[in-house]
Amino acid sequence: MKIKAEHRPHLETVIKRFDSSFFYYDLDGLKDHLKGLSSIMDEDPDILLWYACKANPMSAILKVFRNCGFGIDVASKGEIDQVLRSGIKPEKILSTGPSKSRKYLRELLEENIEIVVCESLNQVYWLNDIAASFSKRPKVLLRVQMEWEDGESVLGGNEITPFGEDRDAWLSMEKSKAQSLDIIGLHVFQWGNILDPKRLESIWRKIAGDSLEICRELGIEPQVLDLGGGIGIPYSSQERNVQFEEILSILKSIKNDFGWQKVWMELGRYAVGPYGHYMTQVIDKKTVRGRDLLILDGGVNHIVRPAITGQPFPVELFRESSAATQKFQIHGPLCTALDNLGTLELPSDTGPGDWLCFHQSGAYGFTEAMPFFLCHNLPAEVIMYEGNLMIPRTPRKAEDWLV
Ligand SMILES: Cc1ncc(COP(=O)(O)O)c(C=O)c1O
Repeated sequence: MKIKAEHRPHLETVIKRFDSSFFYYDLDGLKDHLKGLSSIMDEDPDILLWYACKANPMSAILKVFRNCGFGIDVASKGEIDQVLRSGIKPEKILSTGPSKSRKYLRELLEENIEIVVCESLNQVYWLNDIAASFSKRPKVLLRVQMEWEDGESVLGGNEITPFGEDRDAWLSMEKSKAQSLDIIGLHVFQWGNILDPKRLESIWRKIAGDSLEICRELGIEPQVLDLGGGIGIPYSSQERNVQFEEILSILKSIKNDFGWQKVWMELGRYAVGPYGHYMTQVIDKKTVRGRDLLILDGGVNHIVRPAITGQPFPVELFRESSAATQKFQIHGPLCTALDNLGTLELPSDTGPGDWLCFHQSGAYGFTEAMPFFLCHNLPAEVIMYEGNLMIPRTPRKAEDWLV
């Protein structure tokens, strides 16, 4: 992965201006990507893509999705407020998330959001009471947690997680306590960041078949099957991009073979990941017990994903170098060994003062981090849109939030 030549002067401008770590989002690239997805999707109106804004809820990014016709999946009151403030209409919002209180469900209906993924029997019964009191009839998907042979994933895989209820729990649902809801289908999502379309297909085929069975047993018409997200992006040079044409043909065959009326997904990583870059500076370099280390201005306080998944973001030195590459163990500035961005290949002359660019960091970057520990600067967020560089967020110092 390489920084595109047209972005270099803009990155240099931001470095000169702030001399502090920042995220750079290529919204022109994002717009082209979304337009490409939309034109592929036009082939089949019964397959619908939403954007899971937990991946990156920055307003400028939401507006690109809005302008490309995408609806947005929200999972908190903060996300709802941000999405509404960004001009997305309530009918274009879908609500997921395991922790929905009565208060939150009421807020959804007050905001006229009427597609709700219920993740527990309680959520169904509470939403039903609230809907009756509003004389509304929200559309509901029941989130199912299935059993798999084995396997771990960021979304749980076969682990027991808080997402949804198992089949037996849903089959015990008291229908009399769901009369004010229009149950339109099921939602199943347990496998994240998968690059192999064959693997996605086998996961989705099991989901489509088992979900159909659950619908039959519950007496629900199989209108919508929501498969969540899960399409991966390459984080290393050995990995290859997923082609969406292939995904669409799998989704179409699943819809037709199993008889679902509509198939939905809400994409995060695949939608925005490649359009963000995290820039930070090398502060120090040393060799500790035979291992070469780089210590950076920013680490898990800005970009925590490598520490929690063990998978580094791909890195590039932001200058020409003819030196041979070597492996460095790369750390951020926090006083914890968890602040580890991975062991990555860089030119051997990389050292203090150099800037590094971590690619594929448009998803699960800024808002997933642990920004306050040790009171370093928060990163700036800058965007490139229609060829213009804009800086919606300058770096914030600890004095901006510490009391
Ligand atoms: C309910 C739900 N849908 C969609 C997504 C997006 O997943 P991905 O980034 O793999 O596309 C997530 C991510 O956690 C999620 O929780």
